[in-house]
Amino acid sequence: MKLLRRTLPVLIVLLSVAAAAQQATTLNKPQIEERITKLMEQMSLDEKVGQLNQYRSLKDPSDLKPITEGSIGSLMETGADKTNALQRVAMQKSRMKIPILFGHDVIHGFRTIFPIPLAQASSWDPAQVESDSAIAAKEAASAGVRWTFAPMVDIARDPRWGRISEGSGEDPYLGAALAAARVRGFQGTDLSDPNKIAACAKHFAAYGAAEGGRDYNLADVSIKTLRDIYLPPFQAAQLSGVATFMASFNDLNGVPSTANRFLLDETLRKEWRFQGFTVSDWDSVRELMLHSVAATPEEAAYKAIIARTDMDMKGDIYINHLAELVMSAKVPMWIVDDSARRVLRIKFLLGLFDNPYVDPAREKATLLAPDHLAAARTSAQKSIVLLKNDNNLLPLPKTGKRVALIGPLADDKANMLGDWIADGKADDAVTVLAGFREKLGPDAQITHVKGASILGDTPQADIDAAVTAAKNSDVAVLVLGETATMTGEAASRAYLDLPGKQQQLLEAVHATGVPVVLVVMSGRPLTITWAQNNVNAIVYAWFLGTQSGHALADVLFGDVNPSAKLPVTFPRTIGQVPLYYNYLQSGRPNAPKGDTMGYIDETIAPLYPFGFGLSYTTYQYSNLRVANSKLPVNGQTKVLIDIRNTGQRAGDEIAQLFVRVMSGSTSRPVRELRGFRRVTLAPGEIKTVEFTLSGAKLGAHNFEGVYVVDPGAMEVWVGPNSAEGQSAKMELVR
Ligand code: BGC
Repeated sequence: MKLLRRTLPVLIVLLSVAAAAQQATTLNKPQIEERITKLMEQMSLDEKVGQLNQYRSLKDPSDLKPITEGSIGSLMETGADKTNALQRVAMQKSRMKIPILFGHDVIHGFRTIFPIPLAQASSWDPAQVESDSAIAAKEAASAGVRWTFAPMVDIARDPRWGRISEGSGEDPYLGAALAAARVRGFQGTDLSDPNKIAACAKHFAAYGAAEGGRDYNLADVSIKTLRDIYLPPFQAAQLSGVATFMASFNDLNGVPSTANRFLLDETLRKEWRFQGFTVSDWDSVRELMLHSVAATPEEAAYKAIIARTDMDMKGDIYINHLAELVMSAKVPMWIVDDSARRVLRIKFLLGLFDNPYVDPAREKATLLAPDHLAAARTSAQKSIVLLKNDNNLLPLPKTGKRVALIGPLADDKANMLGDWIADGKADDAVTVLAGFREKLGPDAQITHVKGASILGDTPQADIDAAVTAAKNSDVAVLVLGETATMTGEAASRAYLDLPGKQQQLLEAVHATGVPVVLVVMSGRPLTITWAQNNVNAIVYAWFLGTQSGHALADVLFGDVNPSAKLPVTFPRTIGQVPLYYNYLQSGRPNAPKGDTMGYIDETIAPLYPFGFGLSYTTYQYSNLRVANSKLPVNGQTKVLIDIRNTGQRAGDEIAQLFVRVMSGSTSRPVRELRGFRRVTLAPGEIKTVEFTLSGAKLGAHNFEGVYVVDPGAMEVWVGPNSAEGQSAKMELVR
């Protein structure tokens, strides 16, 4: 054991050095470094600090002085004409002719809007997510935007937190796979490709661990949990060559991330060998004063730059105070040089010095291109999770049935796009009603009634109208949920039920006895426990973007068989939160008064477990085998299972592999995801699905933050979700 502790960290360190070398070849190109050096030799201190300054827009659009004086490194403008015009000022009128880097929140699409990230994560399909991101990059780049503040890779275990919608859910393994996919999609292999943009892994770090699920709140996280749960997606982004990182708003273990040397310097720069630059979050350098770690703006500038926040987003703190701090020898010159060099490195890598402008004709041809819309439809189809389907109520027949389409989101364009929609427009969106009409054609018998409001009052007459419509139909499809603005930033909720009178609406329609399909649009898990116990079918649609209505019609009327699986645990009630599948078991899992570490009035069983999702067909898992059940800590083994489509329709199944290490040097989760595979199966078809399990990846961090792989007993499962599956005993050996 001792020997292992000494040798394995070495193994891991070697691995990360190798990966860092790979990173260095991506971002550190000798010809570029030479050009930066030459440029920096001519730059004044003020011009260097200017590169570290970012605004949304010019404060006064008619005053171009901040650009001509070289005091702006980045702006958040979009549009070929606008960015070209501003860029021309920088390239022609400023002394150093350094191009502006235009950045924007291109989170799940630019003009063509894809499903929100949590929905994309439900596809468990890195290739799809990569291609969605590549399209977003292409559209953004055509509009002059060469930097996105994405991917958001924060692990979120608390659905009260509104920003759960912006990430990939609760699991570090899935989160890491999708973080890497998004970086590859945005950046490609060569940032100078005019269709590619620099990515930004955010929010570094543990922003999702906000206490109480309240946005911006402190995160108090052990070093073990930080490294095992919150950091892996960031490290995956770094290993994929991500160009930038954004510091999070929160205080992490007592130090706000923007001034957190452990995060930005020790971990990111020294340990991970990051070569790109870091940016603060919106005004978060100034906010150091509110965190009471800086009494003055000067001190805020000092603490942020020393911790290695390279760029000040919006705050005006660096531009006003940094040069003076250098002049008075409080901040060493080399730090500002290093920060400026990093910003310039990304600008050179993007090819901005050689090609600073974009072609407005290309922008026109790129935005909402037909293949982009087609991809958004596919992506949305893959993001829709079927949660319940009693007696195969779904798919609905395309003819011969009268459909009551009810709910505030049934014909709503703006909300279905979700939060953070860059240059997306509600007008481009296809509503559920429009999708149904197009799918069913002119003879369709669809009665559409709003039924209730999400925010604001719902008169009883609206609910009554919905009940009447349902009574006169063969099936009622209710499209209920949240508004887009109830999710995302500053949108934490203390209740997780359907807002407004939507629950009453649902119950009233259900009471008619007409079969009910509930479609939920939302950016977080909602506690739809009543619905699970009562309605016939439930489809979780999240927010699906521009092609929402088409994708939902494709699934509800059976042209597409749903395959998505939940990337996050659904609680039965808010009192269970935080609830996640990879918990550490207590010593009393079967307490005398309750069940597994539960409550006296509720179990800890979720409403739906992580990884759960149904299909219009059924799958049977059998014959799990482990090629080498004595797995060496530095070796690999294949894990195989047969999956058979036992239903009547072709479908895609996402098989998941979980492990449990039984004799860790620290407590280990009851299950941890270590692999997933999508497999397409025709009716009756059987395929063997193969996973590779590496001993070195079965470790965890101890309380000193050292990665340790502990030999001993372990168990492996392969199944359709985190609560089911076939299992086998294994042993990790030296
Ligand atoms: C958010 C970031 C975002 C930034 C710029 C902040 O409020 O936290 O995620 O990238 O604004 O819009």
